[in-house]
Amino acid sequence: MAANTAQAQAQAWNGEQGQHFVAENARHERMLEPHTARMLEAAQIQRADSVLDVGCGCGETTLRAARAAWRGHALGVDLSAVMLAEARHLAAREGIGNTRFEQADAQTHPFPAASFDVVLSRFGVMFFDDPPAAFANIAAALRRGGRLAFVCWQEPGKIEYLTVPFTAIAEHATLPALPGADEPCPFSLASPQRIRALLEGAGFDGISVENLTGPTWIGRDVEDVIGYYRSTPMAQALLAAAGEQTAASVTQALRNALRPYQRDSGVMLGSAAWLVTARR
Ligand SMILES: C[S@@+](CC[C@H](N)C(=O)[O-])C[C@H]1O[C@@H](n2cnc3c(N)ncnc32)[C@H](O)[C@@H]1O
Repeated sequence: MAANTAQAQAQAWNGEQGQHFVAENARHERMLEPHTARMLEAAQIQRADSVLDVGCGCGETTLRAARAAWRGHALGVDLSAVMLAEARHLAAREGIGNTRFEQADAQTHPFPAASFDVVLSRFGVMFFDDPPAAFANIAAALRRGGRLAFVCWQEPGKIEYLTVPFTAIAEHATLPALPGADEPCPFSLASPQRIRALLEGAGFDGISVENLTGPTWIGRDVEDVIGYYRSTPMAQALLAAAGEQTAASVTQALRNALRPYQRDSGVMLGSAAWLVTARR
């Protein structure tokens, strides 16, 4: 594993990846709502709980945790200054006072020991360069009997909103290879065996890995979704390297591939995540 992985993650999330997430925050919230609702339900946040949100990004899950723990507190931590700025802005706009956001690497940050009742993460725990160390650090922050609830992606081949555009793009351009299954990337916890081994190693028990699959809203219509796909840092790099004709062919292939998924409510494509819960 590359020695500078943590630095590369910090760079990406402070750079174009973070900016993309801020720009598309409202869309992502709607796309992820089925997973968000299930994760928050599983976390069973009580009114006086102290909650830690790992890799909180623009902070929606932290704010929802803070509302549930209205006599307690929610702390969101993330590597990305740009996403944390958005989270603080949203907290102020919504007048939520019992929350705080801190720029920190959850793998190594010295959280006060056994100080949280709940640790949450919505797609923020797949990017550690040393996952055993990171989950041990997170476990140490939870009080005994405290609850862990996170969602992470299943294999990319099971996620229709990736396979449909990837197949269309691959007709005309070469996609970058996906990172290996145990490298820090969105799919590093796609294996339930790996999740269980990591959590057991960190001292968790009562581990449950639940299948979350189903259609999810991606955008209003085909052109809106194409605009979204084209705005991702990966597509931006691909399009910058492609000629005008290839870019036009890719757009037309995406249009053809997405049309069958248009519904009255918008473009709906399948998603596949794991809902993971455990106790300290
Ligand atoms: C896919 S985004 C998810 C953001 C947010 N939870 C959401 O659902 O919109 C992953 C987030 O994890 C953060 N992250 C990655 N590695 C981290 C680490 N070691 N410590 C803290 N945050 C991390 C990134 O900066 C990024 O904001």
